[in-house]
Amino acid sequence: MNLISQTEARKADHLRICLESNVQFNHTTNGLDRYRFTHCCLPELNRSDIDITTTFLGKQLGVPLLISSMTGGTEQAKMINYRLAQVAQKYKIAMGVGSERVAVENPKVADSFAVRSLAPDILLFANLGAVQLNYDYGINQCQQAIDILQANALILHLNPLQECIQTEGDTNFRGLLDKISKLCYSLPVPVIAKEVGNGISGKMAQKLIDAGVAAIDVAGAGGTSWAKIEGERATDPIQRRLGNTFGNWGLPTAECITSIRDWNSDVPLIASGGLRNGLDVAKAIALGADLGGLAWPFLQAAVESEESLSLLVDILIAEIRTVLFCTGNANLADLKKSGTLERLI
Ligand SMILES: Cc1cc2nc3c(=O)[nH]c(=O)nc-3n(C[C@H](O)[C@H](O)[C@H](O)COP(=O)(O)O)c2cc1C
Repeated sequence: MNLISQTEARKADHLRICLESNVQFNHTTNGLDRYRFTHCCLPELNRSDIDITTTFLGKQLGVPLLISSMTGGTEQAKMINYRLAQVAQKYKIAMGVGSERVAVENPKVADSFAVRSLAPDILLFANLGAVQLNYDYGINQCQQAIDILQANALILHLNPLQECIQTEGDTNFRGLLDKISKLCYSLPVPVIAKEVGNGISGKMAQKLIDAGVAAIDVAGAGGTSWAKIEGERATDPIQRRLGNTFGNWGLPTAECITSIRDWNSDVPLIASGGLRNGLDVAKAIALGADLGGLAWPFLQAAVESEESLSLLVDILIAEIRTVLFCTGNANLADLKKSGTLERLI
């Protein structure tokens, strides 16, 4: 199989495995279960006045949500991205696409990522693996990824564990911080650093911020496990075993948020990794995140229909609004400073 069809086949495998197998963390949780909101019995608010709009990287959002980076490069992926983009536009939520390496290698599949015409107003994130900077990628490929989407920012994902278990994995991560830094100062849009489900600590986030990264997406442990996905794809017994051993590896999402906020109080921060409802999103925001990102729940709804996606967003909105109402907070800024989230022992 040549390199192009190998990348496309991998994209198809990822979707199939995510949809058909149980590849979620099962021992490690997102850590948000260790927190509880203090219930307010008399909110002194009209629920219909509650405001859940926000701004992120200078753009107004209707809801503090991100459809996390997932896919592109196949016909099925195109259908999924188009549905996601239509719903993102309807609710003014942010959206990322999956790694665009497949489109850089084969421009014929670029249309599976090109959702800007369907979502002219949203905050849209391009995506490439940072490790590709050690495998002949540079500013031109990054610019190409941005141009395909007319993206507002470029996500560089950091995925050392996934690359260890992936059959075709790229594991030379040496010297990447310098290369990321050079990109941050030469690209026309901000760069966001993101994990893929194993988390970013406060110390590593600060290094990335010092290098010029404009925002962080923690993509912590507790949701979709890339070790499990790649372990399931692998035919080599060692890689299958690695997938099993490291299936629950990583920093839980809640710990990433608190650790990053201990180091840095104002970097734009996305919480993702195992967020499964609006209560999780609200907890993540109360801990210091600005947006909550979900991948797997959006994937499941997207393969069903656009109606299922709208229903999912309506549910998430209702859950976030209910948290604000029942904690007596009129908006997200008030929620953040309210101190209504308690850590359970
Ligand atoms: C099918 C699928 C494909 C993904 N592909 C990418 C990718 O190409 N780039 C990336 O940064 N993250 C990718 N992710 C990771 C997600 O963006 C997210 O960080 C991770 O799944 C944890 O979120 P979740 O628990 O809500 O699924 C993918 C996730 C899924 C489910």
